[in-house]
Amino acid sequence: MEIKNDEKVKVTFYPANKSTKVKKGENLLRAAMAANVHINASCGGAGTCGKCKVRIDSGEVTSQITEKLSDEELRENFRLACICNVESDLAVSIPVESLLDKSILERKPKKVISPILGVAKLCSLTPECQTESVVVKLHLELPKPNADDNMSDLDRVSVALKKQYELDLPSTDFAVIKKMSKILREADWNVTATVVLTRRGAKLINIQKGNTTCCNYSIVIDVGTTSVYCELLDVCKGEPIASASNYNMQISYGEDVISRIVYSQKKGGLEKLQERIVSTINGIIEEVIEESGVDRENVTHLVAAGNTTMTQILLGLDPKYIREAPYIPVANFIPPVRASSLGLNIENNAYLYTFPVISSYVGGDITAGVLGSGMFLRDELTLYIDVGTNGEMVLGNKDWLVTTSCSAGPAFEGGGVKFGMRATKGAIEQVRISPDDHEPMILVIGNVKPKGICGSGMIDVVAELLEVGLIDQSGKFYRDKNLDRIRKGDTGYEYVLAWEDETQLTRDITINEVDIENLVRTKAAIYSGCVVLLNNVGLTFDDVDSFIIAGGFGHYIDVERGISIGLLPELDTEKFTFIGNGSLLGARLVSLSKDMLTEASKVARMMTNIELSNNKMFMDEYISAMFLPHTDLSAFKNTMGRLEKLWDRNNHIEKGDDIEL
Ligand code: FES
Repeated sequence: MEIKNDEKVKVTFYPANKSTKVKKGENLLRAAMAANVHINASCGGAGTCGKCKVRIDSGEVTSQITEKLSDEELRENFRLACICNVESDLAVSIPVESLLDKSILERKPKKVISPILGVAKLCSLTPECQTESVVVKLHLELPKPNADDNMSDLDRVSVALKKQYELDLPSTDFAVIKKMSKILREADWNVTATVVLTRRGAKLINIQKGNTTCCNYSIVIDVGTTSVYCELLDVCKGEPIASASNYNMQISYGEDVISRIVYSQKKGGLEKLQERIVSTINGIIEEVIEESGVDRENVTHLVAAGNTTMTQILLGLDPKYIREAPYIPVANFIPPVRASSLGLNIENNAYLYTFPVISSYVGGDITAGVLGSGMFLRDELTLYIDVGTNGEMVLGNKDWLVTTSCSAGPAFEGGGVKFGMRATKGAIEQVRISPDDHEPMILVIGNVKPKGICGSGMIDVVAELLEVGLIDQSGKFYRDKNLDRIRKGDTGYEYVLAWEDETQLTRDITINEVDIENLVRTKAAIYSGCVVLLNNVGLTFDDVDSFIIAGGFGHYIDVERGISIGLLPELDTEKFTFIGNGSLLGARLVSLSKDMLTEASKVARMMTNIELSNNKMFMDEYISAMFLPHTDLSAFKNTMGRLEKLWDRNNHIEKGDDIEL
């Protein structure tokens, strides 16, 4: 089991004399980013460009072996920051060739908040909550039958469950009855019963030889329109042990839910779409099973969270009426279904639980996110924002919840962006651009050469291009910059984030004006959706106590950069919390606690949906938000003040003026 080391150490960078506290073992390049210190890093942490050279003046680091440093440099304590880990308090000097940004922009360290990982934290908010899974394994040592005790095998198991665990057994899967007699005798009456706990008692779904109570696993799935994420959980320990993801294979039938619904109405369309999502999930299940080495028979249940269309298609339910006025889903609460009946490759009688949906366009993924965030238990007013192909927002507290959704486009998940990709290994997730020479400092997930850019990287790069004055507020590149990294490409002007030889690809990784426009559309939809939702209940951003941002767009999201591009409102950054994938978070909770399953229904019942289609205010707000950060600059006064200072400073640098850095 992984041992968590939360010990913090201090790293000071010279000559900037900037310090930051990081966890022991943190990557040194990430520490530099946290301290807002620019180190030239163009291979994203793969250790191949040799540009992130630093000298360790005091303290301990561990480092991978590299040919990029000479023996003499190694003797003088030079290291490559990207393949170096901080082991104690450090003093680090950045040589001139690595230190391109002498100004060190004044930014508050960004707030990275870990997701709530276990049931315990949420359960501590509801004292009566039990951390008992909805599917449990119970060890039974049964008395052997004889002439005086000749009850049936099933009755024998039923009596033992009542006697040992005070559980009634009103129902049993027929498949279990079929194999029961043989297993009981081969196991010499020493068996483990897998039961689903229901309000009426237990349902027996499997019987295994011996004591397998320590092997209870579940699979949780975020069924997204663009991407599908999956985790294998150890139910006994309450923690994920393997994870995998892939693009939803339905993508070739349309990028958004509307085009999927349209396709589902063609002959055989629904069956094809269902087959595609089942294949996607099966592929991911294979990966997590292989990675964990878990016996498939010990996967006792699955929990899936998806938007309404994705949920219905997965279950083979016609989504036709989701798209037709008055926009009705088949059902808000769908009972668990046998996973194998859908074609999911799970060997035993495991059931698939899906989250209740609120409306046609606010689905189970939002119920899961609200559950996982715990906002429905708090007094304070929270705005929950889920950034995906659809943008969903939920506003409220323990007394009321209102929600809405809008089509945001897949830009944050890599769609509609030339080098866009999911937040997986090889994705550029953080970017800084030197205002002096416009060289990038990039960080790549997995510390490998980059092959694309994920959502958080997109937010960073657009904010950086704006701040260093390479694009204007409409997202267009200034044409008068004489830089190698800015050029005219196939789809208009573009900025080179990584040259071909620094990537895993056979071409440069760039971001172009079409990519930026797609990102601007996405951020405009999210921001204006929030404004309209607040307006519907007579509130503004200032009334909100806390903001929770969910989405699978990256491991790190910089709130200040989200504000710079107008994705998030200009408020104290302390108000924002980032919880990563909200669907998975809620699905984990339901998988580990049957009380959370009940809470999920409560959350869904609490939510009132506000429809944005044909909402005039939404369209007006959306058009106003199609600017960086916004056309209403009064809502972004501080941001504009900061940007204007930066632009002014950049102009002086370009003119060669001697300014105080
Ligand atoms: Fe460190 Fe390239 S060698 S970023």
